[in-house]
Amino acid sequence: MAGESEASKHICKTSSKSIYGDYMQDYKILAKKELCPWTYHLKVSAPLIAKKILAGQFIIIRPNKHSERIPLSICGWNRDEGYIEIIIMACGRTSREACEKNVGEKFEDVVGPLGKRSHVQKYNGSCVLIGGGYGTGAIIPTARDLKSTGNKVIGVLGARNKELLIMEDELREVCDEIMVTTNDGSAGTEGFVTHALQNIMDHKTVAMVLAIGPVPMMMAVSNMTRGKDIECWVSLNAIMVDGTGMCGACRVSVAGETKFACFHGPDFNGHHVDFDELTKRQKMFMEKEQLAMKAFKEKGK
Ligand SMILES: Cc1cc2nc3c(=O)[nH]c(=O)nc-3n(C[C@H](O)[C@H](O)[C@H](O)COP(=O)(O)OP(=O)(O)OC[C@H]3O[C@@H](n4cnc5c(N)ncnc54)[C@H](O)[C@@H]3O)c2cc1C
Ligand code: FES
Repeated sequence: MAGESEASKHICKTSSKSIYGDYMQDYKILAKKELCPWTYHLKVSAPLIAKKILAGQFIIIRPNKHSERIPLSICGWNRDEGYIEIIIMACGRTSREACEKNVGEKFEDVVGPLGKRSHVQKYNGSCVLIGGGYGTGAIIPTARDLKSTGNKVIGVLGARNKELLIMEDELREVCDEIMVTTNDGSAGTEGFVTHALQNIMDHKTVAMVLAIGPVPMMMAVSNMTRGKDIECWVSLNAIMVDGTGMCGACRVSVAGETKFACFHGPDFNGHHVDFDELTKRQKMFMEKEQLAMKAFKEKGK
């Protein structure tokens, strides 16, 4: 059916032109920088996403044709040059596949922007933005928005040691002040981000806190701010599949109601999140994840 295949070729060409206009969505890696062992900052060509993305939203990438799809936060973008910036921590098979890409190579596909914009308004008190791991990058766009809305913004970043601290200069640029903590005291103040938060709460009027990072950190921040007239937002890293509210994989309980982190969030009121359930659900596929990583290491696929 030569005629049909010619026609379908034409339809694909026409429809891709009408959807994408003048843009080529090829998701090419434009720049790559190692921030610390197994953690990379990438600039990825994605003009349509760069045009629309807002602070707090995220993307889902598929590094290679046969890879799983993984959600990632955005730590920056350039609307004119058509790229987005992400930080990837290679913690398992798919994130490792993504980190193995080099400049000039491409991701198979990138979907976004997904999720809702972070909550931004003028507050009567300081806004404290807390990042751990990749979360240190993820808080940057919201910090910038809060500051341009006229708020006093304090950034807090923490890591196990000096070598694992990332995005300090970039965070400093969008905050009025920043506080650094390391578990071993090799940089900033010795301790956890929660110690820095306690210090800030002891000396300033805090109106709002946003925490992005490991679940125990977000849970601790939520517990510390509960009952204190402080708004507390956390960005939930539930397991996601489609990222559009259709599959139910990312369901979380917030104030006793079932919500989809990808669609209703990812930011939620931390005082109402059922963190125990989130922790259990995150571990659901641990055995399969370990097997996938083992196979990847053994066979390189
Ligand atoms: C909204 C959102 C934003 C995120 N932003 C970033 C980011 O900016 N940078 C970054 O490095 N990581 C981010 N993550 C976490 C990242 O998606 C997981 O680390 C990644 O999916 C792990 O996949 P893997 O195959 O490499 O590892 P695996 O070995 O498969 O999993 C390791 C752990 O990652 C989590 N995970 C696995 N699959 C998924 C999935 N499909 N969705 C969510 N979590 C999963 C689980 O807790 C699992 O135990 C984000 C997650 C969410 C939900
Ligand atoms: S990832 Fe499928 S509903 Fe959220």
